[in-house]
Amino acid sequence: MAAPAKPTRIGLAGLAVMGQNLALNIAEKGFPISVYNRTTSKVDETVERAKVEGDLPLYGFHDPESFVQSIQKPRVIIMLVKAGAPVDQTIKTLSAYLEKGDCIIDGGNEWYENTERREKAMAELGLLYLGMGVSGGEEGARNGPSLMPGGSFEAFKNIEDILVKVAAQVPDSGPCVTYIGKGGSGNFVKMIHNGIEYGDMQLIAEAYDVLRSVGKLSNEELHQVFSEWNKGELLSFLIEITADIFSIKDDKADGYLVDKVLDKTGMKGTGKWTVQQAADLSVAAPTIASSLDARFLSGLKEERVEAAKVFGSGLSDVLVPQEVDKAKLIDDVRQALYASKICSYAQGMNLIRAKSNEKGWDLKLGELARIWKGGCIIRAVFLDRIKRAYDRNPDLANLLVDPEFAKEIVERQSAWRRVVCLAINSGISTPGMSSSLAYFDSYRRERLPANLVQAQRDYFGAHTYERTDVEGSFHTEWFKIAKQLKN
Ligand SMILES: *[C@@H]1O[C@H](CO)[C@@H](O)[C@H](O)[C@H]1NC(C)=O
Repeated sequence: MAAPAKPTRIGLAGLAVMGQNLALNIAEKGFPISVYNRTTSKVDETVERAKVEGDLPLYGFHDPESFVQSIQKPRVIIMLVKAGAPVDQTIKTLSAYLEKGDCIIDGGNEWYENTERREKAMAELGLLYLGMGVSGGEEGARNGPSLMPGGSFEAFKNIEDILVKVAAQVPDSGPCVTYIGKGGSGNFVKMIHNGIEYGDMQLIAEAYDVLRSVGKLSNEELHQVFSEWNKGELLSFLIEITADIFSIKDDKADGYLVDKVLDKTGMKGTGKWTVQQAADLSVAAPTIASSLDARFLSGLKEERVEAAKVFGSGLSDVLVPQEVDKAKLIDDVRQALYASKICSYAQGMNLIRAKSNEKGWDLKLGELARIWKGGCIIRAVFLDRIKRAYDRNPDLANLLVDPEFAKEIVERQSAWRRVVCLAINSGISTPGMSSSLAYFDSYRRERLPANLVQAQRDYFGAHTYERTDVEGSFHTEWFKIAKQLKN
C-alpha cells in the first residue's frame, strides 16, 4: 500500500459506509487523510474507492500504531464506530499511541453523557475530545453533511478549516457546521435533531394516510401532490424523498413498492432518548413523543391484525360525508402539516434551550437552525424562518409566539382543525397532528383546567395550591367541608 510522502492532515477510524464516505469527502476537499479499521478488508476497500473516485489523497493502514504515526501533530482522528462499548474500545486502541495535545472526535450518535465522561478521562491524559453529531446519512457524509461538533474548543479550532470545507454548503448561509458548545452539547443537539426528524416523518405519514384513506388518492396523485408541496413552504428533503417513493414501481409484482412495504417502523434509540430527556427536563414535547409511540404501535403488527378482526379497521363512515372535495382536502392537509411542523420544532428548540440552561452551554438556537439548512435529514427552507425568528429575538419563549409563525398558524388554524376532525371522525389516527394541535391549544389558553387538578391534589394529598387573587400557599379541608355539605 502506498505510504504518504509526508504526514497526513487527519485520520479516520471505523470504515463502515458512513466512515468511508466521510473519509473520501475529506480527501476530496484536499486534506490528505489516513484511514484505519481493525477489519483490514475495509481499509483496502476504502483505498480502492479513493483510487476509483478520483485518485484522492487517502492512505490506508492495517495496524493502529502506523496509522496514528502517519498523522501530523497535533493529531486529529475522527472515529465512526457504533456508539457505546466499541467507542471505548477504539479510544483505548488509539490512545496508546497518541501524545499530549492530540485529539479524538467521535462522529457517532453517542449518548451525550458518555462523551462528557470520555472528555474528562482524555483530559487527564492531556488529550482533547469532541463529540460531533453527523447528519445526512451515507449520501451526506460523502457530499456534505451537517456537522455538530461539541466539546474541546481548542480541538475544534485545530480542524475548523477541514470541517468548514467538508460540511454541506448552503448559498447565503454558509457551511453547515458551527462550534456547538462545551461537553456533550454536540451529541445532545444531534439527538434532538433526530427527535425532530421522528416528528417530521410521522406528520408526513399522517398526511399520506389522510389523503390515501379518506381522500382516496392514488400513488400517482400522491406523487403529484408531494412534488407540488416541495415547491412551496414545505420544501424539504423529507418531502422530496416522499414524492419519489410514490413514483417507484414494485420490481417483484404489479403496483407500487410502497404498498408492499411492511408497516412496522424500526428505530435506533435517539428518538427514545429525546422523549426521555423531555421528561427529565419537564419540557412538553407531545409531537415527538407521539411519533415515538406511533413507532411502538406499528411494531405490534400481529396484535393489530387481531384487533382489526374485533373492531374492523375500515373507515368509520358514520360521521364522514361520502363525498370528499379532493382539491380542498389536499390544500387543508398541506396547511395542517405545516402548522403541526411548527409545533414540533417549537418543542425541539425548547428542549435544547432547557438543556442549555441546565448545563450552562449557552447554545445559539438560530445558529442551530442555520446549520440544519443543508446536509441533514431535516433540511428545509422552513429552517430559515426559524433562524430569522431567533435572530429577531434570541430569548423567544416559544417559536409559536414569533410574529411570523404566529401569523402563519392563525392563517392555517381552520384547515388544521378540519383535517384533525375529519381524521377523528373517519377513525384514522393522526397522533402527531392531533398532539400538535393540542399543544397549540393548551399553550394559547390563558386559563387551563389545571385549577381542578390542583384542587384534587390538595383534597387528597394536602399538596396546597396558589390562588389567582391572593399571594401565598393555601390548604383547604375539602373533605371536611364536603362531608358537612352532604349531611
Ligand atoms: C472495523 O470494521 C468492523 C466491521 O465492519 C467494525 O465492527 C469495527 O467497529 C470497525 N472499526 C474499527 C475502528 O476497527
